[in-house]
Amino acid sequence: MNHTSPARRQALRALAGFVASSPLYAQRDLADSRQLIPSMEEMINVFDFEPVFKARVLKTSYDYVAGGADNEWTLRRNREAFDKWAFRPRMLVNTAALDLSTTLFGTRVEAPILIAPTAGHGQMTADGELATARAAAATQTLMVLSTNSSQPYEKVAAAAEFPKWFQLYAGPDMDGTWERVERAKVSGFKAIVFTVDGPYNPRRERMLRNRIETATPPGVGAQQRAQPQTGRAARRQRDGEEAAPAQPQTRAQHYGLGTTLVQQLDWAFIVELKKRAAGMPVMIKGILTAEDTALAVKYGADGVVVSNHGARYLDYAPATIEVLGECVDAAGKMPVFIDGGFRRGSDVLKALALGAKAVLVGRPTLWGLGAYGEAGCKRVLEMLRSELALAMGLCGKPNLAAIDRKLLRTL
Ligand SMILES: Cc1cc2nc3c(=O)[nH]c(=O)nc-3n(C[C@H](O)[C@H](O)[C@H](O)COP(=O)(O)O)c2cc1C
Repeated sequence: MNHTSPARRQALRALAGFVASSPLYAQRDLADSRQLIPSMEEMINVFDFEPVFKARVLKTSYDYVAGGADNEWTLRRNREAFDKWAFRPRMLVNTAALDLSTTLFGTRVEAPILIAPTAGHGQMTADGELATARAAAATQTLMVLSTNSSQPYEKVAAAAEFPKWFQLYAGPDMDGTWERVERAKVSGFKAIVFTVDGPYNPRRERMLRNRIETATPPGVGAQQRAQPQTGRAARRQRDGEEAAPAQPQTRAQHYGLGTTLVQQLDWAFIVELKKRAAGMPVMIKGILTAEDTALAVKYGADGVVVSNHGARYLDYAPATIEVLGECVDAAGKMPVFIDGGFRRGSDVLKALALGAKAVLVGRPTLWGLGAYGEAGCKRVLEMLRSELALAMGLCGKPNLAAIDRKLLRTL
C-alpha cells in the first residue's frame, strides 16, 4: 500500500525537479564528466568534438544545438546526401602550389569555409561571439553574426580585425529591423545575410521535451518569437489596466502557430532592404529552389545561401547539396553559398564542384566553442581547411578555379 499522499508526491516531484535544475547539480555533473574529457590534441576529425561538447554544456544547450524539426528526416538527409557523389580524381597534375583562398565581396578568405550564423554563443563559452570572432580572424575567414547574438553587435565587430557579415532576421517590427541594419552598417559589417526560411516558429521536439517552448534559445533576445503586442493594448497591460477588448484571432493564432515578421513579407522587401543596406551586399539565406534563386536575381540580391536552416524549420525540406546544382544553374553570375551538414573537407569539395562559391558551417563551430572555447572553434575550422586541401591535392585540383562538375561522378 502506498502511504504517500498525492500532495506529498507532487511536492517530492517538484523538489526533484528543483534539485535537477540547480546549477550546483549541473556543476557536479560537469566535474564528473570532465575527468573523462580528452584533450584537444586528441581530436582526429570534426565529429570528435561533438561528444566533448555534449559532456561540457548543459543538456538543454546540447539539445538546442543538435535538434532538428519534427522527425529530423532533413537533419539525417543533410548528411546522407553527400554519399550520392564520388570524385573523378585526375593524376599527374602539378598541385605543389595548393591555394584554397578566394575573394568574397572584396574580402580575401584563406579557404571557402565560413562560420554560419548561429544564436547564443554565450551558452557555449563565456565570451560567446567575441571568442568566435577571434577564432574566425585567426583562420582568416568570415564569421556571419546572428541577429540573436548573445553579445552586442558592436562589441563583436570590434573583437577582431577581420571583416564580418551580419545575419538579419526581420522582426518583431519594421523599425527594429531597420535599426539592426543600421547598427550593422555603422559598426562595420561588410554584408547582410537575410534569413527567409522561418516565417513560423518550428517545433523542435527535443526542446519541447526540455520544456523549452520556443525556437529561441534560452538567454537570447526573443526577436524570433510570436509578435509581441505593441501600442495601446501592450501599454494598458503593462500599466496593469484592464485588458483591451479581445481582438479577432489572426490565422496563425487560429492554427496555434507562433509567427515572425517574415510571414508578412514578399520579394518587394528585398528592394527596400537593398536601399537600407546602402551599398552593403545583401544575400538571401534559406533558398532551396531554382525558382527562388531566379527571383533573388530579379529582385537584385547579391547572393543566396542554399540552406534549410540546418534542418531546424521545415522537416522534409531537401538536403541542401541535392538542390545546389539547380540553384547554381538559375543564379547566372550571382554567387551561391550553401550550408547544411558540412563536416568533412570532401563535403566542401563536392559543393564547390557543384558550383558553390563557399560553404558555411554551423554546428561544428559550436561543438568547438563548447568543447574547448575559442581554440576549439579555431581548430574545427583548421581541420576542415586541411581536409579540403588534402582532398583537392588528391583530386589534382591546385586551386578553386580548377574545380568544376567534371570532378564528380553521380552514384
Ligand atoms: C544552434 C543553432 C542556432 C542557429 N541560429 C541561427 C540564426 O540565428 N540565424 C540563422 O540564419 N540561422 C541560424 N541557424 C542555422 C545556421 O545558420 C545554418 O543554416 C545551419 O546550422 C547549417 O547546418 P549545420 O549546423 O549542419 O552546419 C542556427 C543553427 C543552429 C544549429
